[in-house]
Amino acid sequence: MTDVDALLGRLDLPAKVRLLTGADFWSTVAEPAIGLRRMVLSDGPAGVRGESFDERDPSLSLPSPTALGATWDTDLARRYGAALGAEARRQGVHVVLGPTINLHRTPFGGRHFEALSEDPTLTGALAASYVDGLQSHGVAATPKHYVANDAETDRFTVDNRIGTRALHERYLAAFEPVVARAWAVMSAYNAVNGATMSENPLLDEPLTGTWAFDGLVMSDWGAVRTTEASALAAQHLIMPGPSPVWGDRLVAAVRAGRVPESVVDDKVRRLLRLASRVGALGPPPSADPTAEDGRAFAREVAAAGTVLVRNTSELPWDAGTIRSVAVLGHGASLARTQGGGSATVRPSAVVSPLDGLRAALGDDVVRYRMGARVAEGVQPFAQATITNPVTGGQGVRAVFRDADGTELLAQDRLASTLVWLGPEVPAGTDHVELRARWAAPAGTHRVGGAGVGAMTLTADGITLLDTTTTLPDGAGPGAEIFEPPGATAPLDTAGDPVDLALRLRPRVSSSLPAVAVTLGEEIVVDDPEAEIAAAAELAAGSDVALVVVGTDVESEGTDRTSLALPGHQDALVRAVARANPHTVVLVNTGAPVLLPWRDEVAAVLLGWFGGERFGEAVADVLLGEREPGGRLPTTWPATGSESAVLTGVPDDGVLRYEEGLHAGYAGWLRSGEVPAYPFGHGLGYTSWTLDALTVDGPDVTVALTNTGTRAGRQVVQVYLSRDDSSVERPARWLAGWAVVDAGPGGTTVRVPIDARAFRHHDGSGWAVEPGEFTVHAGFSVTDTPLTARILTG
Ligand code: BGC
Repeated sequence: MTDVDALLGRLDLPAKVRLLTGADFWSTVAEPAIGLRRMVLSDGPAGVRGESFDERDPSLSLPSPTALGATWDTDLARRYGAALGAEARRQGVHVVLGPTINLHRTPFGGRHFEALSEDPTLTGALAASYVDGLQSHGVAATPKHYVANDAETDRFTVDNRIGTRALHERYLAAFEPVVARAWAVMSAYNAVNGATMSENPLLDEPLTGTWAFDGLVMSDWGAVRTTEASALAAQHLIMPGPSPVWGDRLVAAVRAGRVPESVVDDKVRRLLRLASRVGALGPPPSADPTAEDGRAFAREVAAAGTVLVRNTSELPWDAGTIRSVAVLGHGASLARTQGGGSATVRPSAVVSPLDGLRAALGDDVVRYRMGARVAEGVQPFAQATITNPVTGGQGVRAVFRDADGTELLAQDRLASTLVWLGPEVPAGTDHVELRARWAAPAGTHRVGGAGVGAMTLTADGITLLDTTTTLPDGAGPGAEIFEPPGATAPLDTAGDPVDLALRLRPRVSSSLPAVAVTLGEEIVVDDPEAEIAAAAELAAGSDVALVVVGTDVESEGTDRTSLALPGHQDALVRAVARANPHTVVLVNTGAPVLLPWRDEVAAVLLGWFGGERFGEAVADVLLGEREPGGRLPTTWPATGSESAVLTGVPDDGVLRYEEGLHAGYAGWLRSGEVPAYPFGHGLGYTSWTLDALTVDGPDVTVALTNTGTRAGRQVVQVYLSRDDSSVERPARWLAGWAVVDAGPGGTTVRVPIDARAFRHHDGSGWAVEPGEFTVHAGFSVTDTPLTARILTG
């Protein structure tokens, strides 16, 4: 191990402080004098993007963390982390910015898809395994965002007021087992109980104090706002750089005696320790251990996380007897395979449900109709439909120019939605142009662009658009990348290719430049009812129907304002279900949505954002090649207006976690409201009975029987409750679980119960109330036929 103290002693104060702010968007500062190389940081958490959003350098895109949460499978979570570790090593990345372990406090949360579950114990266990897998490759994990970044509204400034017990028993509890092994942690943008997290006392206690976290706390991007308060807190690295917030100002504060130099030394020690752990200091990392096939793994996780919430003996379909399948829904062809924001990666290819079914059953069996539009605004063109006018190959020509029109940078890109950050934006940029020849089908289209600034678009040299787009007031940093406004104009084509040229003059900040631009088309349905009728007709003439429904936007930066499916999708499902009794709905969202027709269809599958092999996994599950292995990691509401459905909307800058301990399923149990589907629910393709529960020391043993004829997967869940408690408690809480893969017949499974399941926080520390706890075992939080008692104290 590197002698960190010896190296520290060779640096003077300015040299030490220099290391504590990032070099640029995605890397830390090198110090050749002590052999310190730069460390590359990359988002996370469902892929490793690398240092740019560049589709020419593709990354593995795994199913969204909600899908991983739905597996309840710590072995799979370890492999998920390991697959990302291999990806990171392949791309020269030392630190992955994930997993995201904020809790699903509200289904409206824009980053819900990116987090694992509503339960701290489930989240903590899965994330700990993810971290182990990732770090086994010598790549640091960065669990984020510490703590309580559970919604996006006013995310930079919101003050989340959380009672001591809920803070410790829920939000910090999810972090505790994860930071026990992680080499880095990211502090959050938001404040908790009055102090912004980049300078909050929670960084000292419990994180670096009681929990003895010896890694590095990096800021969320741009979260550090003060020099001294943040330096005096256990906040160790400012990202990204350059930033004036520490630098010379911190050197001056140390020299003036306002910040002890020992505080700087502690930060540098942690940075050097991290560098030595990831091979940026001392010997470079040894060769990458053998990695499994990431793409095959993506397909496996997507199926393992798919939750079958309803099945009236419809699924699995028999590929041998089905002669025609009507596939309907915008998302069937334009699948959402990942959520929006910093978690986005650029995979080499994406398999949509339509592609997956066609590959499995043949083009002659599978017939498609959109039925209802989902994605609004300008969507990038499919790569196969655009030709670069310079190379003649697929894609677009992107050129940056200065005010005189001199070319500063030219790139041949494959995608027509592009992002450049930091030094990727050439100095002196006045505007960026995207040019492509589009193979437009005959008809009327709405073509256009998305981006912030003055925009023109020409088609075959004729100006279609000349406008200026702006962000709405109050849009947060990053909005120009995550939610760029768009503009479109009508274009009639007779079927001949069209030469399109989009020119955007972006507003570029000199400190942290960012340019995002999209050239594409907005899908418009002139007569939604006729489109639905055509879809229903296709379904009526087919053996079975699959409707894929989904959300338009789920992204970092904004919370959703409604849980209803956008557009005409509910009407589409109902019309198709009326036309064909064998209608299966695949819900392609990262977070809960309302399914008001759920009892009117033959089966409902929740496929989440299924990653780059989504469509193959969908076909595997529909045709019974694989078990839909998932169980809900989060309660799905029925109407969205139940009192148990919390919101993330602050009042005057303050968001009160008034529910205290009663969030998630505990809130539903307390209110007595009935959700659409409870926490832990999910069906497989076989049937099970629960036979016996025995308490055996710290663990419990459950006997169960697969009463069907095929092998299947079940998740045996164990909850605790406490009658006549002297302290307030949730109605019940998850204490342990076991994933069982078993063929027909009886089986016995041991479910370990962590001693922490019995503790509560008494305001000053952890305590265990002596007496009897009730153990409930079953297949969801509300389906627990077996009970037993455990005595403590
Ligand atoms: C997000 C982080 C992310 C960082 C870098 C921030 O806006 O909140 O989760 O890691 O950007 O992309």
